[in-house]
Amino acid sequence: MLPTVTNYANSDGSVSQKNIDYYALRENLAAIIIEASYAHLMGKSFANQLGIESDDKIDGLSKISNVIHNNGALAGIQLAMNVKSKTINKLTILDIEDIQNSFVNAALRAKSSNFDIIEIHCAHGWLLGQFLSSYFNQRSDLFGGTLQNRFRLPLEIIGSIRHKLKDQVLSVRVNASDFVEGGIDLNESLMFAKELKNIGVDLISVSAGIKTFIHVSNAIYPKGFLLDFASQIKANTNLPTIAANRLNDFDIATLAIEQEKTDFVGLARSLIADPKIATKWQNGQLRSVVPCLNCNQECIANIGAQKQMSCLINPNPYSSKVFQQPFMYKRKVMVVGAGIAGLAFSVFAKKKGLNCIVFERQSKIGGQINLAYKPPYKQEFKKIIDYYTYEIQNLNIDVYTNIEVDTELIKSEKPDIVVFATGSTPYIPEFALNNEYALTADEVLEFGVPFDARCVAVLGGGLVGLETANFLANQGLSVSVFEMEDSLLKNTVEVLRLPILESLHSNIKVFLDHQLVNIENNTAIFQHENTLDKYTFDYLVLALGRRPNVDLINKINFCIDTINIGDCKRPHDVHAAICDAYNAAIML
Ligand SMILES: Cc1cc2nc3c(=O)[nH]c(=O)nc-3n(C[C@H](O)[C@H](O)[C@H](O)COP(=O)(O)O)c2cc1C
Ligand code: SF4
Repeated sequence: MLPTVTNYANSDGSVSQKNIDYYALRENLAAIIIEASYAHLMGKSFANQLGIESDDKIDGLSKISNVIHNNGALAGIQLAMNVKSKTINKLTILDIEDIQNSFVNAALRAKSSNFDIIEIHCAHGWLLGQFLSSYFNQRSDLFGGTLQNRFRLPLEIIGSIRHKLKDQVLSVRVNASDFVEGGIDLNESLMFAKELKNIGVDLISVSAGIKTFIHVSNAIYPKGFLLDFASQIKANTNLPTIAANRLNDFDIATLAIEQEKTDFVGLARSLIADPKIATKWQNGQLRSVVPCLNCNQECIANIGAQKQMSCLINPNPYSSKVFQQPFMYKRKVMVVGAGIAGLAFSVFAKKKGLNCIVFERQSKIGGQINLAYKPPYKQEFKKIIDYYTYEIQNLNIDVYTNIEVDTELIKSEKPDIVVFATGSTPYIPEFALNNEYALTADEVLEFGVPFDARCVAVLGGGLVGLETANFLANQGLSVSVFEMEDSLLKNTVEVLRLPILESLHSNIKVFLDHQLVNIENNTAIFQHENTLDKYTFDYLVLALGRRPNVDLINKINFCIDTINIGDCKRPHDVHAAICDAYNAAIML
């Protein structure tokens, strides 16, 4: 398991129960290298990051290594410092000595905390990675300039640790390439790796990229696209390597080992999504793996926003609480809607021992996910439907499709409780109702645009609008996106926003600061800088948000327990729907 900052520690960097529970759940792994832990307070970058900068951390850290050992894995810890870009150029020689001592002392603490592997973080543009890279390092003293000088601090630190801890397994995480002009490239990285071998490093963990969306890449980058870097470093140094990044595909991971491209397959996000993935792979239970979608939405995006790590599909990566509280007595639960909220609820509830009967008015399960996976780079989302289809069969949950639930059906079923997961529908402003040229993004993703469409406007530059625009542009249409804000995805964190913008098709024109005020036939009218601007297209695609489906809920005028979950409570995203489902299952 690769290191992943969780932001679960106490605010003073000490180990919390959540840290311990999180690692205790991850099973059947060769080794778990725990998250980047700051070796010096100056290198702490997240409010609840784990620290190893003082002796009082040893007790807590020992508890983590202990639970990892209890699961039969080797315990590793990543020692790290993160500072703002180019801070290293201002460090004095005294600062550098202080940093050196901090890493060495942190390594001694790691040893005292019973970690088997000590990993030094020299990748991702963190402090030691900055020293290595000309992109950051503009020092003109012994620690900058020539390759030898840039390597100096990391090598001195790692050399000192090697000297003090002769029998300790030492790993170094490196960037095979910074993927930025002036940064480390494979050549330099190979030279660094050879130096690491010379000073007695045992293992190299190979990553790449200083931009987060490269080293924690989403589906825009192909699966296993960093694997060749690991094999180059392995071939040129003869050192064992750990490969990383989108290796969460059993076939790719197996082939990587069989073809000896790497010695170890490193997994990060897929272990957040499913702590038991290794066991399931080993037992050939591939369909039962809770799939990581490489969406980054709740894991690394949360870390960037200084929040605790979560997961789009696994709402509680540090606990299996829902399954530990069996229902005290049997109740009949009727679930209305087999979209993501209804499916997730019935699966959580069944795992807790409660039987649900699920009704869906459409012919298939999955609700909006059936549309969400259609745009380019979104195919991973189909795995959600595949996973729930498997779980529904595996757990023998009764799902009836093509049934429109009404109050009479609810009364005749006589449930003890009704869980409404009736979803949402696209918002259509009054002036666009019954307009033959206005289509919703849902309609476009489901049925495509009419055959005579060449030039379309997408009204709304949020996530759905941009994905739909990409979907259309990919089919050769000329697409214009109109957004009322002054930038696209204004409130979306960088790690999610940048790859989406980068992946926008070149056939898409973007109009910002355009507030839709009316639609007349195929002409959209916008308020823009105190004028009314009119644009005419073949068709207009509405991506203006959603409204909850509450018709049935509002008709309940008899006494019955009900819970609303997912979009019918508040239109939001997949994670919110799954969290609602999870919390409802816990509550029952
Ligand atoms: C939430 C999160 C936190 C991460 N924290 C670290 C870290 O502490 N140290 C590190 O070297 N890489 C970190 N990474 C990168 C991962 O170790 C890994 O290289 C990356 O996620 C790609 O592997 P994957 O496709 O298996 O997720 C983090 C990734 C995520 C998603
Ligand atoms: S949030 Fe998305 S990328 Fe992150 S672990 Fe969960 S499914 Fe994977």
